[in-house]
Amino acid sequence: MDFDFDQRIDRRSFWSTKWTRYPPDVLPFWVADMDFRAPESIIDALRERVEHGIYGYTNTPNTVVQACLDWLNREFSWEIDPEWLVWLPGVVPAFNMACRLAGSPGTEVMIPVPVYHPFLAAPRHAQREAVFVDLKENERGWCMDFDAMEAAVTARTRMCLVCNPQNPTGRVYTAQELTQLGEFAARHDLLICSDEIHCAIILDATKSHTPIATLDRELAKRTITLMAPTKTFNIPGVGCAFAIIEDTELRDRFRTARAGLVSGIGPLQFTACDAAFREQGAWLPALLDYLRGNRDLLERAVAGIAGISMRHVEATFLGWIDTRELELDGPGAFFEQHGLGFSNGTDFGKPGFVRFNFACPRSLLREGLERLEAAVSKARSDL
Ligand SMILES: Cc1ncc(COP(=O)(O)O)c(C=O)c1O
Repeated sequence: MDFDFDQRIDRRSFWSTKWTRYPPDVLPFWVADMDFRAPESIIDALRERVEHGIYGYTNTPNTVVQACLDWLNREFSWEIDPEWLVWLPGVVPAFNMACRLAGSPGTEVMIPVPVYHPFLAAPRHAQREAVFVDLKENERGWCMDFDAMEAAVTARTRMCLVCNPQNPTGRVYTAQELTQLGEFAARHDLLICSDEIHCAIILDATKSHTPIATLDRELAKRTITLMAPTKTFNIPGVGCAFAIIEDTELRDRFRTARAGLVSGIGPLQFTACDAAFREQGAWLPALLDYLRGNRDLLERAVAGIAGISMRHVEATFLGWIDTRELELDGPGAFFEQHGLGFSNGTDFGKPGFVRFNFACPRSLLREGLERLEAAVSKARSDL
């Protein structure tokens, strides 16, 4: 079956965050959702649920739990006990809650950066201090810098908050890097909160996602894993998320931190996620193919534009573009003036970069790349 990812679908009239932030003449390549229709199986399930006509408070359906267990098993050969699951309306509230489990107010949460911007404020929201440690670039791309992490860790550090696959750099940490992270955490008795929301958007055939908690039983006991089907199936507006916490005491503390803070998950959210976990048709392979094509186009274009560069994107639909050579005061504002709506690197803890969301029809991407080339050429002539 063919899927028309080339189709341009109006989103501006539907209050899309992505399409209404910038003026109409600016092409939006920022917030991480895709300009593609979700799989028909999800749309059909939602249609059927909408027809019921009553959208009241809803318990977690057993079918969703089972579909989630099957999905984890299928995707990652991860067999978990349903008791380990804690359901939440989103991953962002989940890592904010997780920070409340790190020691006591005033203790530290270590975060490798650049990273998805709501990470940066999460420790502060929980009255904890953030310790940011830069990822380093080497021949594999963006990696955790364990020497720098060792140098930055203190007796007050109680948690490491990581993102894998990594937003914004598109890196998939290897099992070896994750083992090293686990050893680091054990040495300093840290909890690990691992945001793995991009776990099923792996573009490189030679890469695979390893949930860190599957590496080792001891490591699993200090880990809170956060996942959701929302990025993969493009349903973040009707999505929900879940935490996997094996350790009973840690899970109880997480539930306590959650108490009263988030509302229950709605029936449409559960319906969409249930259908997403069950979706095993051709849609996802076709999507990954299309994203690969867009990624290759973006990488080739950037390689051909003097003044900017990017690392290979192994996973996600996000390109992390280094514009430092252009010495722009504010890359986000500069590119906006040239008709490009990017996420600004400063928001992710790394000035001089922009994040390019390439999950859009290819014709739109091509327009964006033409504008990128023109903008960079102008910036270079102003140097
Ligand atoms: C790494 C990461 N975590 C969490 C989220 C958002 O999660 P949610 O919408 O479930 O709160 C995003 C969205 O872009 C993300 O990239």
